Amino acid sequence: MITTITLNSGNEMPLLGLGVYKATGEREVERAIGWAVDAGYRLIDTASAYKNEDGVGRGIQACPLPREDLFITTKIWNNAQRLGDVEGSFSRSLERLMTSYVDLYLIHWPVPGCYLSTWKELERLYEQGRARSIGVSNFDIRHLEELASISDITPSVNQIEFHPYWYQKKLVDYCQSKGIAVQAYAPLARGAYLDDDVICILATKYGKTPAQIGLRWILQKGVAVIPKSTQEERIISNGEIFDFVLEEEDMDAIDQLNRDYRSASIPDDLRDVTF
Ligand SMILES: NC(=O)c1ccc[n+]([C@@H]2O[C@H](COP(=O)([O-])OP(=O)(O)OC[C@H]3O[C@@H](n4cnc5c(N)ncnc54)[C@H](OP(=O)(O)O)[C@@H]3O)[C@@H](O)[C@H]2O)c1
Repeated sequence: MITTITLNSGNEMPLLGLGVYKATGEREVERAIGWAVDAGYRLIDTASAYKNEDGVGRGIQACPLPREDLFITTKIWNNAQRLGDVEGSFSRSLERLMTSYVDLYLIHWPVPGCYLSTWKELERLYEQGRARSIGVSNFDIRHLEELASISDITPSVNQIEFHPYWYQKKLVDYCQSKGIAVQAYAPLARGAYLDDDVICILATKYGKTPAQIGLRWILQKGVAVIPKSTQEERIISNGEIFDFVLEEEDMDAIDQLNRDYRSASIPDDLRDVTF
């Protein structure tokens, strides 16, 4: 069973999605989307920076489901923000994705001096219905507060790195208190916690994989997940996280694993900025 979260835009967002970062091999992303849809995934997370929106578009076209049954997210990259080319970048994303709208359009990173004006442009896309929901990614509390001071539209989503090795509790609590849904990227920490003793003991206890334990912990924090895989078996098993519940003492044990571990790197063009 796949469940959803109701965004502040009124739209439903699946709690599980397929991440496709680095899926740029020959027909790699198309195949992954096919397996994911068969396994019950309905959300695909891409970005103009991933250079695979065209493959995602072909994957959607090949999918037997109507477009409305899918939830497609893409993101505006840093250079387009600096150039003030939000409309152009968005239109090119739509063309590559072969769709007339996206379900969620995100500011990929809070580029200093740019993200407030970028947000104003996203508001226009939202009002036109070409982006059904709009949101942000990699935003900290101070970025969100600044956004709130210039806009009446609260982001629907903040997509951030979140997993047992980086339990960003303060930021998640803040977002949830403001009605901003949190979506965890790198929810597997790109493998970093999959051989952790505590995670492995819990995997044995629940008869689940370490990845499923980590993803379930995230879900039970009220946070959506977008694990990436282009391997059929992993795509299927990463989605089997709605049929068990971690007990409170096990949730607490995973809470203790935090080490502020960042698995995704800050882009080169933002390296000297404090996040
Ligand atoms: N907004 C942002 O700035 C941002 C940043 C990073 C990522 N993202 C999004 O979040 C998605 C997920 O993050 P991510 O791709 O960085 O990391 P991730 O989902 O934590 O980990 C992906 C890695 O784990 C492997 N993997 C997947 N399932 C596995 C399993 N069951 N057991 C062992 N290994 C497994 C994958 O390899 P295989 O493919 O070979 O299975 C891949 O190498 C991205 O694809 C992207 O859509 C957003």
